[in-house]
Amino acid sequence: MKYLGKLKIFNQTYEYTSRFLLIRKPIQGLLLFFICIKEKIDCNSSIAINKIKIIIRGESLMIRFFAISRSYKLLDVVNYNYVFFSIFAVMLSFFKQKPYLKDLLSGDYIDIHSHLLPGIDDGAKTLSDTVRLIGSLEKIGVSQFITTPHISHYIWNNSPKKIQDNHTETSKLLTGENITKPFLAAAEYFMDDWFEKHFKNEKLLTLKDNYVLVEMSYMNAPIQLYQILFDLQVAGYKPVLAHPERYLFYHKNFIEYERLKKAGCLFQLNLLAVAGYYGEEIAKISEQLLKNGMYDFTGTDVHHDNHIAAFEQRVKINSTEELKKIISNNQFFKF
Ligand SMILES: [Fe+2]
Repeated sequence: MKYLGKLKIFNQTYEYTSRFLLIRKPIQGLLLFFICIKEKIDCNSSIAINKIKIIIRGESLMIRFFAISRSYKLLDVVNYNYVFFSIFAVMLSFFKQKPYLKDLLSGDYIDIHSHLLPGIDDGAKTLSDTVRLIGSLEKIGVSQFITTPHISHYIWNNSPKKIQDNHTETSKLLTGENITKPFLAAAEYFMDDWFEKHFKNEKLLTLKDNYVLVEMSYMNAPIQLYQILFDLQVAGYKPVLAHPERYLFYHKNFIEYERLKKAGCLFQLNLLAVAGYYGEEIAKISEQLLKNGMYDFTGTDVHHDNHIAAFEQRVKINSTEELKKIISNNQFFKF
């Protein structure tokens, strides 16, 4: 049985193994094992150590509370058992902590939104950035990915050929770096007047089949948005709107999200939104969209190391079951 950790509380040092807990402190030990099984974590992991520290601290505080209450005769008229179980219930609810974002990916996640091709947009700048980011994505549980450089005529004037050439060259160089995991390249299209003309004449880079990733300005929607969405579908494409939660101008006008869905738009959640990376307001809207079953897919939208680091955060939302469902929807893009 492995060593669990050392904890100093009120001048007393505790050294725990999971066996010690089960034999000498069975309630805490069983509670720990129950939590570990429920949350699917190793009883000997650092997460388990932190949880047992919380349990022991809570217990110590309770003992102090009873001692002080007795000395001041505060609890003379109150049923001790009732108070004890109330506090225990509060402690239990505290243990129901939200999961870490990376733990929701569980090793077989298919990412459909990232900026990993070197020197082509605001994502990876060099091949070493690409190598590092791909390695990090694998560590957090991404098994396959379709990277999506921006195509925004007035800012990142990439063409499908430029992206495909970069993808071919990068794949070769990555093989030289012993990274053989295959990955695909598509694009994230910015919806503007140029895009409106472009897809009528040129073939788009799609995520799979006719699914095309689109975005718009964070300041405002294009005036002709619904015309673009209509024409795009007439041209045979299915629009997947990237990070709808990040368009602040829709937050106080939630009905617009419903209008977009009715107009045939699929929604792709940026996973970092639920970890609060873009702020509390965006996390709240993502929860609202989740609860309303409006998301279809998810993406990491990883550009740099800070994005990777945010996967170490716990999610800030309560709708984790809905979140797991749309994470698993990405299996549709498996190649
Ligand atoms: Fe993006």
